[in-house]
Amino acid sequence: MARWLALAAAAVAVVVAVSGIGGVAGYGPGGGGFLYPQFYQHSCPQMQAVVGAVVAKVHAEDPRMAASLLRMHFHDCFVQGCDASVLLDADGSGRFTTEKMSNPNRDSLRGYEVIDEIKAALEHVCPHTVSCADIIAVAARDSTVLTGGPGWEVPLGRRDSLTASLSGSNNLIPAPNDTLPTIIAKFRNQGLDVVDLVALSGGHTIGNSRCVSFRQRLYSQNNDGKPDFTLNPAYAAELRGRCPRSGGDQNLFALDPVSQFHFDNQYYRNILSMNGLLNSDEVLLTQNHETMELVHLYATNNELFFQQFARSMVKMGNISPLTGAHSGEIRTNCRRVNHF
Ligand code: HEM
Repeated sequence: MARWLALAAAAVAVVVAVSGIGGVAGYGPGGGGFLYPQFYQHSCPQMQAVVGAVVAKVHAEDPRMAASLLRMHFHDCFVQGCDASVLLDADGSGRFTTEKMSNPNRDSLRGYEVIDEIKAALEHVCPHTVSCADIIAVAARDSTVLTGGPGWEVPLGRRDSLTASLSGSNNLIPAPNDTLPTIIAKFRNQGLDVVDLVALSGGHTIGNSRCVSFRQRLYSQNNDGKPDFTLNPAYAAELRGRCPRSGGDQNLFALDPVSQFHFDNQYYRNILSMNGLLNSDEVLLTQNHETMELVHLYATNNELFFQQFARSMVKMGNISPLTGAHSGEIRTNCRRVNHF
């Protein structure tokens, strides 16, 4: 146990030192709804240290996991709000269908067992206190910091849902081949604007995509037998090597091959050189004046990107949280509601 706490303390020291946490994001009273960073100050002061220690340990073993945990927060918040609905397994009750089987998540979203590990550690030190939704939010922040990105104070106090929504997961999370107006509409639907969209897409500075998520760009972008002309031909040729016309659906490719484990603004520079991997990345440059200007801005100003990313993450983390004693619950096991 002593070793555990030492590890946790060291991880927090790293997080704070690397990120300069404290006032990065524009969060303040009134701006964050019912959530606030000190929520567990008395009920579970070790909360952030415990999350940070497990995330740091897992990151050391599997450097891609940071990307996966960041994405998990996004996929949680876009469906019913940030309520850990994404973590519920099918329970046979027929009350809901697990989001884990949705198009965006199936064979793609990862990190569920990391949240289980954090939850088990927290149930040990502060039973029935910390929500799974808050664990995801803090793990996403810690993952960003561990890969060299910005830090921010995470407003806390979310509670966990009693249900999940497969159709919500299918319909509300943008797909890589959605048109830009559709993607903008899906963000707007969550209270996020074009600035948030471009900044948060910068999450694709880390992590992987499967071949199946961008294949059409290599062979027949508009069902016309021609590759996407906004994709650099040399890059397209390289991608075709491991992403054939058929087969190899699950083959993995770095979203940012220049620095795939490092959180920086290289993602935007890739887009400028027509090396954005997903269609949804490249259209930010080619189909809308406002998003194009933001891509240029973040490509040339890392500091501004970091500031806006942090601000937009706080905003995303504020999507429809369940708060107060009468909505949702604090799950004991993140995969199941407490009573069913
Ligand atoms: C703008 C709309 C977005 C679309 C269409 C989109 C789409 C995708 C797709 C298709 C993948 C690859 C999945 C696979 O093939 O397995 C992916 C990966 C990823 N996305 Fe997004 N995404 C979007 C926004 C975001 C946002 C807002 C974030 C976080 C702030 C994010 C973070 C990530 C990360 C980190 C990965 C890599 C995950 C891993 O390696 O496990 N994405 N995204």
